[in-house]
Amino acid sequence: MRILFLGDIVGRAGRSAVIERLPGLRERWNLDCVVINGENAAGGFGITEAICDEVLNAGADAITLGNHTWDQRETLVFIERQPRLLRPANFPPGTPGRGANLIETRSGARVLVVNVMGRLYMDALDDPFAAVDQALDDCPLGQVADAIVVDVHAEATSEKEAMGHYLDGRASLVVGTHTHVPTADHRVLPGGTAYMTDAGMCGDYDSVLGMQKEEPIRRFLQKTPGTRLEPGLGEGTLSGIAVETDDRTGLAVRVASVRLGPHLEETWPQFWD
Ligand SMILES: [Fe+2]
Ligand SMILES: [Fe+2]
Repeated sequence: MRILFLGDIVGRAGRSAVIERLPGLRERWNLDCVVINGENAAGGFGITEAICDEVLNAGADAITLGNHTWDQRETLVFIERQPRLLRPANFPPGTPGRGANLIETRSGARVLVVNVMGRLYMDALDDPFAAVDQALDDCPLGQVADAIVVDVHAEATSEKEAMGHYLDGRASLVVGTHTHVPTADHRVLPGGTAYMTDAGMCGDYDSVLGMQKEEPIRRFLQKTPGTRLEPGLGEGTLSGIAVETDDRTGLAVRVASVRLGPHLEETWPQFWD
């Protein structure tokens, strides 16, 4: 199977890059499954139902979220009727929506998509390791699921690496999101799980984490109230990881980083071209 995971969509720049480029990439690389983190898709803060539909229609099979899940209040309602939109699984019991779901992709594959949030330097939540265990026990790789994609939305690289090794051999891909800066450590772990500490973002990289630079710089210089953070308006770059899995085991065979657009050095899975 061929899986593409893209990091946090930030604002219109990120959305436009996804909507313009994803249909072509799906076809060119013959992708079986596309998962994208969409927690900053609506003006940098959360996701609306209209944007969710737009990203799914562009070729995403599932969308994951993170600490910005509820920034748009309508998400509390529409997440219940959108099985392809996932919020962190380790939110408290009774939280609307789902943290994991077995998705049928456009190619007919059954992919378990799991979203969890780390706890270091983030909100206090339930144990993300226990939450993933539960999701994977319900839907084992190679038996119920053809592939398993886990988005670990976390600040600390240590927590994301620990999760990768903890799930090694049980998931097809464990990928971090949230920092908006891609890491260079994409690889297949010894047990066969593809791993990358952070997928980066889909957005304008001539920015501070996708936001126009002036206000973030000002906040580091002055401790006075400022203005709202606004997403960068320049051309967006797609950033993430491409994974090829073994059809029998569901484990990863090879990986490549994906960066397409201005500002970052471009890279893509040449073994699919
Ligand atoms: Fe984000
Ligand atoms: Fe985040």
